[in-house]
Amino acid sequence: MATKIDLIKLHHPEAPKILIEPPGPRAKELLEKQKKFEGNPVLYPRMIPLVPDEGLGATIKDVDGNVYIDFFSGISVLNFGHSNPYILEKAITQLKKIAHTLDFPTEAREALAERLVKIAPGGLKNKSKVIFGGPSGSDAVEGAIKLAKWITKRRPIIAFEGSYHGQTAMSLNLSSARKFKDPYVPLAPEVYFLPYAYCYRCPFKLEYPKCNVRCADYVEHVLEDPYSGIPTPAAIIVEPIQGEGGVIVPPDEFLQRLRRISEKYNVPLIIDEIQSGMGRTGKWFACEHYNVTPDIMPIAKSIGGIGLPLAGVVYREDFDVWEPGAHIGTFRGNVVAMAAGVAAIDFAEEYGLLDHVKKLGEEALKFLVDLCKESKYIGEVRGKGLMIGVEFVKDKESKEPFSDFVSKLVLETFKRGVIVWKAGHYGNVARFLPPLIITEELLMKGLEIFKDTVLKLEKEYASVS
Ligand SMILES: Cc1ncc(COP(=O)(O)O)c(C=O)c1O
Repeated sequence: MATKIDLIKLHHPEAPKILIEPPGPRAKELLEKQKKFEGNPVLYPRMIPLVPDEGLGATIKDVDGNVYIDFFSGISVLNFGHSNPYILEKAITQLKKIAHTLDFPTEAREALAERLVKIAPGGLKNKSKVIFGGPSGSDAVEGAIKLAKWITKRRPIIAFEGSYHGQTAMSLNLSSARKFKDPYVPLAPEVYFLPYAYCYRCPFKLEYPKCNVRCADYVEHVLEDPYSGIPTPAAIIVEPIQGEGGVIVPPDEFLQRLRRISEKYNVPLIIDEIQSGMGRTGKWFACEHYNVTPDIMPIAKSIGGIGLPLAGVVYREDFDVWEPGAHIGTFRGNVVAMAAGVAAIDFAEEYGLLDHVKKLGEEALKFLVDLCKESKYIGEVRGKGLMIGVEFVKDKESKEPFSDFVSKLVLETFKRGVIVWKAGHYGNVARFLPPLIITEELLMKGLEIFKDTVLKLEKEYASVS
């Protein structure tokens, strides 16, 4: 079925189209209503006044009829597009049959478990187990950590600076941003943060490749030295590309060396593919770019196919020593999301979506690298597939982060019909995570608007400074 489809038909034909500067009248009403009834933690509408009404492929229509190109996919939840008809049909069929089954087997549940084991990376392929617990990525991270603790009987965890693993107590503890943690510490104790290979801002002030990947050496150092002060950990948890941290792509050797170190010291390696997985980088999982197999891999976001909440943990068969009920939740997987997940994998395979992502990702990266040469404030462009970050600095020499520029850029680009988002240690990275089914034409249209907005804003800043 999917081979016959024309990707163009999945999107709103007129995108982008701005009829009225957002927020339009209906959007204003709903934003006011939100302020009245929802609590203060609401965040995203403070940055762009988007009030979505309808999603179609890589486009979103707002309640006043404006149509945007979506370069964000609800943070990589909609890899297969908004309302993809091929997936939607399967989800609706399942919803009409049965929606909630705890962990009793169903056709959809077992089909998804089988598909996930088949597309699992490296040595996990056809040799892993899957569990479904709660519906969020944070829950999958909790599950992954609990499994590592169960197996090793140890408690400490090594995580990395710049990481994001979620918001529940344990996953929050593993996330690095002070703003999320300060109100709640102490959380789960014994998490140690080590430097990630963020080469643009090397924590050791070295240069790759002369540095010989000092970040990896440092991990080995703390495990080897009996006086490092870090107890023997239950796990090392790492994102293969840091998403919230600013789309930080480490050199290949970083993950490869972590793999070797974790084997040498007998510490399970957890690779968090929640944001980078499900085809986002042009491979099913980003760790495949480095030929590295995780011992334990939390997944979530796009595995629910069409934006339905679903999370899971894929792990080595020989790690399956958990007791029944060891990681559970009321939902234990959502069978409608599972049917959608199966349809999404089928769709991607039949369409050859991974090759499409690779091709479009290379074009987008080239376009943005060219823009970097022209731009006064773009310090670095990096990414794999359709997971791309553009880091803005006030000055290319000092690399002082330019966060205000990015906030303004996100808003101005939105007003012109393209949704991009912020990330990074300093909020100075524009992040691109478009639905993978985006067409080349839509992608380039959106990128041209982004470029135009960057150059226009740069002129405005130059005229006032
Ligand atoms: C790498 C990574 N891990 C974990 C999470 C947490 O997922 P959730 O927000 O579904 O709890 C996220 C969310 O952005 C993420 O990017």
